Parts: sequence; C-alpha cells; structure tokens
Amino acid sequence: MIKWGILGPGRIAEKFANDLSLVENAEITAVASRSLDRAISFGGRHFNARPFSSYEAIVKEGGVDIMYIATPHTFHLEQTLLCLENGISVLCEKPTSINQKELQRMVDASRQNNVFFMEALWTRFIPSMRKVLEIIQSGIMGEVDQVEAEFCFTAPVDPLGRLYNMSLGGGSILDIGIYPAFLAYQLLGKPKSIRASGQIHDTGADQTCTMNFEYNQKKSAALHCSVLFESNMPARITMTNGYILMQPRWHEAPGLIMLRAGYKPEHISCPPLGKGFTHEIMECHRCLAESKIESDLWSHQNSLDLMGILDEVRKQAGVVYPGRD
Ligand SMILES: NC(=O)c1ccc[n+]([C@@H]2O[C@H](COP(=O)([O-])OP(=O)(O)OC[C@H]3O[C@@H](n4cnc5c(N)ncnc54)[C@H](OP(=O)(O)O)[C@@H]3O)[C@@H](O)[C@H]2O)c1
Repeated sequence: MIKWGILGPGRIAEKFANDLSLVENAEITAVASRSLDRAISFGGRHFNARPFSSYEAIVKEGGVDIMYIATPHTFHLEQTLLCLENGISVLCEKPTSINQKELQRMVDASRQNNVFFMEALWTRFIPSMRKVLEIIQSGIMGEVDQVEAEFCFTAPVDPLGRLYNMSLGGGSILDIGIYPAFLAYQLLGKPKSIRASGQIHDTGADQTCTMNFEYNQKKSAALHCSVLFESNMPARITMTNGYILMQPRWHEAPGLIMLRAGYKPEHISCPPLGKGFTHEIMECHRCLAESKIESDLWSHQNSLDLMGILDEVRKQAGVVYPGRD
C-alpha cells in the first residue's frame, strides 16, 4: 500500500481523493488543513485519514509515503520544500510554482534529498493523450504542423478569490493557460518565438490570454485561455496527412476523432478511469516502486520548460506577482 497525505483539502483535493479510491494499493492515511474541522471532515469522507491541523505536523508525524499538495500556487514552493527536505515524496498541483526560478529550487531539493517530485499535470497521463502520442509516433499521420487549443470558462469575478487574488497566484495563464501551453510543448517542443497578450483585471490578474507560438519549419500553435468566456474547449492537431480532434473538453478527452486524408473519420474511444487523476496517481506509484525521483513521462525538465514558456507569456501579457517575480 502507498500511503498518501493530502495537504490543503479544498476543491481539487476532494476530486483527487475520489479518484484515488479507484487506484489499487493506494490509501489516504493523513490529511492536513489549517482548520482541524476541515481535516476531520475530509478524513471522514476519505479513508478515515488521520486529521492534522498543521502542515508541519503532517510532515513530521503523518508517516506518509507521498504528499499531494493541493493549495493555491503561491504556497507550493514552501510546502514542497518542507516535504522534500523531510524525505517525503511530492505530487504538487499545477502550476508547480509562480515561476521557473522557484521551480528550480523545488527540483534542486528533489535531487539533493533524492526524493520523488512530480507536477500534477494529469492530462499528460490520460489515455487520450497517450493515444495522440502513439498515433504521432506511428507516423501514419505524418508530422505535427499546428496545435490549436483552448481552456476557457466563466468564473465569478471575486477580487479575493484564488483566480483574481495575486497573493494566491491569480490569473488565467497559470491556472488554465498552462493546459494549452502544455499541449503545444508536448507535441512541438519549446517554441522559437512567443507572442502573447492578455486582458488584465484591476487586481493585476489576467482574465484572458491569447498565445501564439512559432517553431522551425513554419510549425505553430494558437492557444487561448480565459476565465471570462465559456468555450466547449476543443483541441485540434493538424498534421501532414490530416488532423486529430481531441474531444471536448480536450484536457480530459474521452476520445479522439482522427481524420486521415483518403480515409473515413475514425472515432477512437479512450475514456479516463474516474475523473482522470487516477493515471497520474498510477504514474507516481510506478516511480516510487522503481525508486525514481522523477517521471520520465513528465520529467523535472518538462516542468521547467513549461514554466519557462509561461514566464515569457506572463511577461508579454504584463502579469507580475509582487514580491515573487
Ligand atoms: N488538476 C486540476 O484539474 C486542478 C483543478 C483545480 C485546481 N487545481 C490546482 O490546485 C490548486 C488548488 O486549487 P483549489 O481550487 O482546490 O483551491 P482551494 O479549494 O481554493 O484551496 C485549497 C486549499 O488551499 C488552502 N488555501 C486556500 N486559500 C488559502 C489562503 N488564502 N491561504 C492559505 N491557504 C489557503 C486551504 O487549505 P486549508 O484547508 O489548510 O485551509 C484550501 O483547502 C491550485 O494550484 C490549482 O491550480 C488543479
């Protein structure tokens, strides 16, 4: 059994815990919140996990193998270092940090302490993403020429809430722009040039951002994120011999449609197990079983590259986190 701890039992931790119950050899044995009541109530719903009222206490006394860090982005650095320096493996919610410099410190701590650390970029591990990579590798569709992807939803404007409050890492780029940027990075690598512009709220948080990436050989990516507008969230991967549509919402796609020139459209069903967090959990288990400190499917360098791309996007869009950038 792998013993999981939960740090920050909020909205995403609830969904993660539901998925964890679908994975073999996994249990949540401890949960820490700033509020003991919240920890008790979460533990009551999930595995009877032992509640802690401080993050230090769960790290020192929780006896967990791996911690899932599910607090707002601005706390990830400090909490990840606390775990890694105490020998506890970490699966840290995306984005791992506010910027690449902070992420480098987390990666250094993982290496210096020889402890596993991975960004919870769960879309990387879901069956539909793996299928896309398998099709690309097979060569039948030729090369990827263009990636188009969106991540948009309408969130209430709350200057104190996580999406608008800069001290909690507010803004669409880090929260959801990371997904389309990930897809472009995964399929086309690091861009040769980036153009980005955003719509900035009075709090300093970006509400929308349009990103255009260019690569050698006229390859490109057109990406968009927004917490102002709804979208059905499609993703299209245009290739030499046709294109692949990741079914909306693409970041949790239940399947693909492959349109190959000269052939009928092929519908490929590949739903995730549960909500989809199960697959990143299984990847953590695989890495722990092999005593790895990073995944080779979503490595430290992958996270660093992606954070570097987001640093540049934010710079161009004019998004600054006071005291952090
Ligand atoms: N993978 C995904 O699909 C996905 C989806 C949504 C969010 N996320 C990521 O998950 C992280 C958390 O998002 P969420 O929506 O779950 O957040 P949330 O519910 O607002 O907060 C999660 C926990 O963080 C702590 N927290 C919240 N506000 C705080 C504050 N002002 N000061 C100190 N601690 C605070 C609280 O822990 P206590 O109980 O200890 O007070 C809370 O329970 C973010 O980094 C986000 O990007 C990922």
